Amino acid sequence: MTVKVLISDQMDPKAAAIFRERGIEVDEITGQTPEELAAIIDQYEGLAIRSSTKVTAKIIDAATNLKVVGRAGIGVDNVDIPAATARGVVVMNTPFGNSITTAEHAIALMFALARQLPEADLSTQAGKWEKNRFMGVEVTGKTLGLIGAGNIGSIVASRALGLKMKVVAFDPFLTPERAVDLGIEKVELDELLKRADFITLHTPLTDQTRNILSRDNIAKTKRGVRIINCARGGLIDEAALKDALDSGQVGGAALDVFETEPAKASPLFGTPNFISTPHLGASTSEAQVNVAIQVAEQMSDFLLLGGVTNA
Ligand code: MLT
Repeated sequence: MTVKVLISDQMDPKAAAIFRERGIEVDEITGQTPEELAAIIDQYEGLAIRSSTKVTAKIIDAATNLKVVGRAGIGVDNVDIPAATARGVVVMNTPFGNSITTAEHAIALMFALARQLPEADLSTQAGKWEKNRFMGVEVTGKTLGLIGAGNIGSIVASRALGLKMKVVAFDPFLTPERAVDLGIEKVELDELLKRADFITLHTPLTDQTRNILSRDNIAKTKRGVRIINCARGGLIDEAALKDALDSGQVGGAALDVFETEPAKASPLFGTPNFISTPHLGASTSEAQVNVAIQVAEQMSDFLLLGGVTNA
């Protein structure tokens, strides 16, 4: 009997090609409403998604033949994991395919903050040539505080060390040996908040990490700290961040992710020294090819062989 997979979000064509090479029938139907997806999902053993498709308990209920959901990316926040687990549906992600790309975006935003690049660009293209307005800071010799030193955080650390920054990290899962290997200093959160000139977040959103940069914690930072978030909205109290930018406690902030996405409006928009991008952390051609290949290979292995040979 033919195994069928549905790709329900935009994905590099390599994913469909791999499924077909492995003898799996694949449909690519994107942009469906939840009702449309629920109406057809019982035809499929596999569902390959990025972030647009919301795999809710209702979708899982309707997916009577579903064995696996594959997320081409890291976060599985758009999948109801308890509902999937209760039905025996395996949920897999691709934890490595877009790590470099996301780390590079964090570094790009750090430089954009240090040199006020978006504002300088707007001003120059408006014909103003405000050379004296845009005094930046060097990153060399500055302390970067990593909240989260896993796949992405550790790549950010290696890039920052190459830029001659000092790196301190708060991560309960970071062993002292791994910190030594990475050339970074493991610290408690309060110590990081006190010492960091730049703070970058690289942790999933969990009950432990939600609001980790709360109003109280933002108040503990070094005055003028610059904050970057390419991980998940909800890690920072956005209202407190707005107040801290206005007061100068925070000297700049760059958010790629927001508590509510798409973020079509935010009190932060228009704040001086605030930069935003629309969840572009994983958006490079290289990363999208990587995650498409990885998710298709993992799902094919699982569906055809009953296991996963590619992590
Ligand atoms: C991920 O979880 O892989 C990233 O946030 C990228 C994305 O969701 O598009």
